[in-house]
Amino acid sequence: MLVTGREILQDAHKNNYAVGAFNVNNMEIVQAIIEAAEETNSPVILQASQGGLKYAGVEYVAELGKLAAKNAKVPVAIHLDHGTDFEQVMLCIRHGFTSVMIDGSRFDLEGNIQITKKVIEVARAVGVSVEAELGKIGGTEDHITVDEKNATFTDPKEAKRFADETNVDSLAIAVGTAHGLYKGEPKLDFDRIKIIKEMTNMPLVLHGSSGVPADSIKKAVSLGINKINIDTDLRIAFSNAVKEFIKENPDSIDPRKILSPAKLAMKEAVIEKMHLFGSVGRA
Ligand code: G3H
Ligand code: ZN
Repeated sequence: MLVTGREILQDAHKNNYAVGAFNVNNMEIVQAIIEAAEETNSPVILQASQGGLKYAGVEYVAELGKLAAKNAKVPVAIHLDHGTDFEQVMLCIRHGFTSVMIDGSRFDLEGNIQITKKVIEVARAVGVSVEAELGKIGGTEDHITVDEKNATFTDPKEAKRFADETNVDSLAIAVGTAHGLYKGEPKLDFDRIKIIKEMTNMPLVLHGSSGVPADSIKKAVSLGINKINIDTDLRIAFSNAVKEFIKENPDSIDPRKILSPAKLAMKEAVIEKMHLFGSVGRA
């Protein structure tokens, strides 16, 4: 069933677990994620990145997501990931997204509060949830890169003020993760997660979560992370399976045969994440 991000994340916040938000770009990815969610009886968030919207188009993403959600036995939200501006958010809402992120992290605190409030005013009127980002998460996602020197951790006092002034549904925080592949092992600032959770008492979001060791993810969830964004790990599962299949079947010309093992590999990767995040059985 199609639900809002807020419905999913409020339950996760109250019951101290996290829900996976997985990036979708085509039908096979949507199917893999939904099958994983149904098999584990887990709520799930399908999200479209900027690159995903460019690749598939907002209509395809929205219609695929809505069809999948309508037929799913578990709660599914369709979410805009790293929404760039007011117009893009409105476009996604118009196409039926039930959750949007407005990423105002490139602005100063005042500017971020302002754009977030503007989006919330409209989104709330039509029952769509809003995620914002405070601090700057490093790394590269699609065409957006934040250098290590420009990445800044979220200030807990600013997070409190941001939450109070905007009343946003969920907040993405910068605590040591980065988008894309890690060079070394990421070190998370667990104290910062704990303090931000205590000060804001709201659903918190971890971006750049691919490649983060399982015990760090578990600890982050125990301290108050409720939404975990995964893109790169699914890309790896998908592409490794395609490469392997082509290597073993160099004469295959059937896209269905080539993509079936990739879909299965992604589904298995998603199931593993759902167990790790604690969302299994929470649908
Ligand atoms: O917004 C999407 C994510 O933060 C995904 O990051 O590719 O490092 O898993 P990732
Ligand atoms: Zn992200």
